[in-house]
Amino acid sequence: MRTSRRSDVDPFIVMDVMEAARAAEAAGRHIIHMEVGQPGTGAPQAATRALAAAMEEGPLGYTVALGLPALRARIAQLYGEWYDLDLNPDRVIVTSGASGGFILAFNALFDSGDRVGIGAPGYPSYRQILTGLGLTPVDLPTSADNRYQPVPGDFHGLDLQGLLVASPANPTGTMLDHTAMSDLIGAAHGAGASFISDEIYHGIEYEAKAVSALNVSDDVYVINSFSKYFSMTGWRIGWMVVPEDHVRVVERLAQNMFICPPHASQVTALAAMDATEELEANLDVYRANRALMLEGLPQAGFDKIAPPDGAFYVYADVSDLTNDSRAFAAEILDKAGVAVTPGLDFDPIRGHQTLRFSYARTTEDIAEGLRRLKEFMAPR
Ligand SMILES: Cc1ncc(COP(=O)(O)O)c(C=O)c1O
Repeated sequence: MRTSRRSDVDPFIVMDVMEAARAAEAAGRHIIHMEVGQPGTGAPQAATRALAAAMEEGPLGYTVALGLPALRARIAQLYGEWYDLDLNPDRVIVTSGASGGFILAFNALFDSGDRVGIGAPGYPSYRQILTGLGLTPVDLPTSADNRYQPVPGDFHGLDLQGLLVASPANPTGTMLDHTAMSDLIGAAHGAGASFISDEIYHGIEYEAKAVSALNVSDDVYVINSFSKYFSMTGWRIGWMVVPEDHVRVVERLAQNMFICPPHASQVTALAAMDATEELEANLDVYRANRALMLEGLPQAGFDKIAPPDGAFYVYADVSDLTNDSRAFAAEILDKAGVAVTPGLDFDPIRGHQTLRFSYARTTEDIAEGLRRLKEFMAPR
């Protein structure tokens, strides 16, 4: 049986690295995980307790497609707490992770063949989901001078129907400040392109607060998730904020594509939003890990790094060490016992010469990983 051309998407290389690390562990080796982009912690305890209580109370059947009204209201409240915005809960759509949000957003906004600009380096699945939906991802090569974020000049005249940005970004952790965000939204709107802001790493920021696209305009899609700050990757729950006149469009898609986001995860997410103490304790760990990384990576010889404002990644230019980041990552895993991600996942062209280090695990793990990296790099 034939398969479609649009299903011919690339694998997520980090998953291959995770598999190689797992195989090494199965063979008895101790591996430090700097490849995975997920917290080592689970959902907040108060949240899982709330789920246990809800399971005693009754069956967790379908909910309405847009999500539990209490959760949508609580998310709207978060926009007051984090961004000083008064958000109408009707504009909040609960999704199956940010990933579910992309599928809904791309279907709501674009027609087959439409061109959507994405920064390179960037989160790999943007490109693959767009391709899988018959859309055309357009890589916008960013520069270290612009802290690996796109600027209006990068897409001038490219005839885009959409622009997707992330701040803080994966793999660099760099953020767009208010001016940079306004410039991008203004240029996108000026060119007739819909603007989508991936804000999944909001809450994990170290120096300044992240700016939401909603601080600039209501005419945007904002995608967020419970995976990162709320430490709930496996629960597959997130949300999207859309303009008022798009809610019904997305609702019709959500009803048919997903019926509803997982009910159990919605109950858990609602309680997680009030577990501030536990979530801030997680953040303290990332902050300590970041300080170790910013000191230890240059000491090991990885000194061309983007200054990470948020998230839990450091992106390193290793062009003076290799032209084959995949082979280099495999060597680091083999010889140092540290799993890292080759940049090819994030930038198909220049990623041959970059690596991403994640510091989402415990501080002990990060310290040990850095020790091993220094030892591995010493002869170089
Ligand atoms: C920038 C970015 N967006 C979206 C996602 C997907 O997140 P979710 O688990 O909410 O589907 C990830 C996951 O790592 C990510 O890094």
